[in-house]
Amino acid sequence: MTKTAIITGGGSGLGQSTAIRMAQEGINIAVVDVSEKGGNETVEKVKALGVDAIFIKADVSKAEEVKKYVDQTMEKFGSIDYFFNNAGISGSGKYYLDTTIEEIEQIVGINLLGALYGVRYVAEVMLKNGGGSIVNTASSAGVIGQDSVVTYSATKHGIIGLTKSMVAEYAKDGLRVNAIAPGPTETPMVKSFFEANPQMKENATSGIPQKRLGTPEEVAELVTFLLTSKAEYINGEVIRIDGGFTSTK
Ligand SMILES: NC(=O)c1ccc[n+]([C@@H]2O[C@H](COP(=O)([O-])OP(=O)(O)OC[C@H]3O[C@@H](n4cnc5c(N)ncnc54)[C@H](O)[C@@H]3O)[C@@H](O)[C@H]2O)c1
Repeated sequence: MTKTAIITGGGSGLGQSTAIRMAQEGINIAVVDVSEKGGNETVEKVKALGVDAIFIKADVSKAEEVKKYVDQTMEKFGSIDYFFNNAGISGSGKYYLDTTIEEIEQIVGINLLGALYGVRYVAEVMLKNGGGSIVNTASSAGVIGQDSVVTYSATKHGIIGLTKSMVAEYAKDGLRVNAIAPGPTETPMVKSFFEANPQMKENATSGIPQKRLGTPEEVAELVTFLLTSKAEYINGEVIRIDGGFTSTK
């Protein structure tokens, strides 16, 4: 039977690239995003590859909207086999004491609560159907500490705790949960962040042993491997994909 994946933040960057890569494997895709334009663009791109897809407009920071995207995916496709729990924002890049409480709440709401709600509702469906596979998007900033992204880093460290602890509870029931920790990757999010903070682009590239940013396609390849049965015995893992960045810290 054709498998189904939910991809949050599927309208851009890592989510869109992964949707395209998964579609190449013949997997149906539910694209979840707040952006209708991006979400519909991804749906068009994956349908052109011969799979079925829907766009579901949802804000992952709202539990009721997370439940809605899970329910709508089940109505349309009848199963959720793979979940790329990926929607996230980076924040302003200001030092922590210069950030507002509103910004802190927004980043935690989308990056951490959004990921927790996603796993809460998706894993419930997966476990009823005998299991499934989840990849959560952490970051280099979830593995090491970094300036200018304190709240973001806190949420990404949290994603890793979510990943490992889910495995402790549910691996025995057929659930696999892994995380990826990308370094700076050339997506729209990073482009706009570096445009606002040009000095950080130079610092970022010079600090990467491979002296370049990652590409969304490289990340999509890793996520597809981790989600699908090719990685059947990999569980609770955090895979860094960062050109050696964090290994030198
Ligand atoms: N690009 C990088 O360098 C990099 C590195 C490490 C981790 N990440 C993480 O990868 C993930 C994807 O980032 P990206 O670089 O592809 O960014 P992006 O901005 O290109 O894509 C993110 C998508 O998420 C959507 N989104 C934002 N808030 C949302 C919400 N509340 N509900 C639903 N959708 C929402 C946006 O509309 C957008 O389509 C994020 O979690 C980010 O923290 C990115």
